[in-house]
Amino acid sequence: MTKYKKITVAPITGTIGAEISGVDLRQLDAETVTEIRQAFLDHTVVFFRDQEMTTEEYVKFAANFGPFGLEPYVKTMDDHPEVIAVLKEASETKTINFGGQWHSDWSFQESPPLATILLGIDIPPYGGDTLFANMTLAYETLSEGMKQIIEPLIAVHSAKRPYGTGKSLLGDTDKKSMTIIRSEKAHEEMEHPLVRTHPETDEKSLFINPVYTIRLKGMSESDSREILQKLFKHCLQEEFKCRFRWQKNSVAMWDNRCAMHFAMNDYDGFRRELHRITIAGDVPFGSAMPKDTREHLQLA
Ligand code: SIN
Repeated sequence: MTKYKKITVAPITGTIGAEISGVDLRQLDAETVTEIRQAFLDHTVVFFRDQEMTTEEYVKFAANFGPFGLEPYVKTMDDHPEVIAVLKEASETKTINFGGQWHSDWSFQESPPLATILLGIDIPPYGGDTLFANMTLAYETLSEGMKQIIEPLIAVHSAKRPYGTGKSLLGDTDKKSMTIIRSEKAHEEMEHPLVRTHPETDEKSLFINPVYTIRLKGMSESDSREILQKLFKHCLQEEFKCRFRWQKNSVAMWDNRCAMHFAMNDYDGFRRELHRITIAGDVPFGSAMPKDTREHLQLA
């Protein structure tokens, strides 16, 4: 018997992602929000179709899931400081797209976003899909020996590769239709446990990504590379992934604490625009933090 009374939840793979139907995101009661939240925890990323909304209605929908996150390196919409227009114009060919490398959003922040939400505004006739990877499954499928080795490790995150003052992973940021804000601040480093315990499900996941995780604490970037590359390769197995084909008015909402995502860049000559909102998260903790301390800090 289904545990959902207000919504219909249809998984799109056996490991990650579910489409939710039977709901108008402009008109949600508390029970429906609770069920969406449960489906989000159960499936890591949830999708909705045909949700025509104004930006005000979209912001109101997102606010059901918590306060908004901080957007440090991309200019937000003038009248909506919580919304980023993720945009690539038809004329921007042979460029690197925003989100076009596997990552979790803003993992260099002290409290990276809990969730990210995207609304499809202008969708190319083909291409521009978003892919997601389940980082809980990535952790769970490691050998016991490997789990023991990596459990105490601390990963160092930084925004410097895309948003620092050197050569950017995003290519020539001055030529983009999105306004990218690069600065010295992007070179700051943030430490998070490599194995993160989910504050709501208590499940462990790998909290690393190839864009923002620059090295392991106590090691140089080059010494860390081999271990991180091995872990990234493990995380990005086909079995842990799903892929979402966008339509106008589709919505995706993913658990940024235990998923990576990747935006395909295979639609040169067409315009793609999605509106993105992040929901503020908490400070990641690993198994080293005892449960009573977490409770004291109101993390779990
Ligand atoms: C992002 O990385 O936040 C954007 C993903 C996308 O454009 O599909």
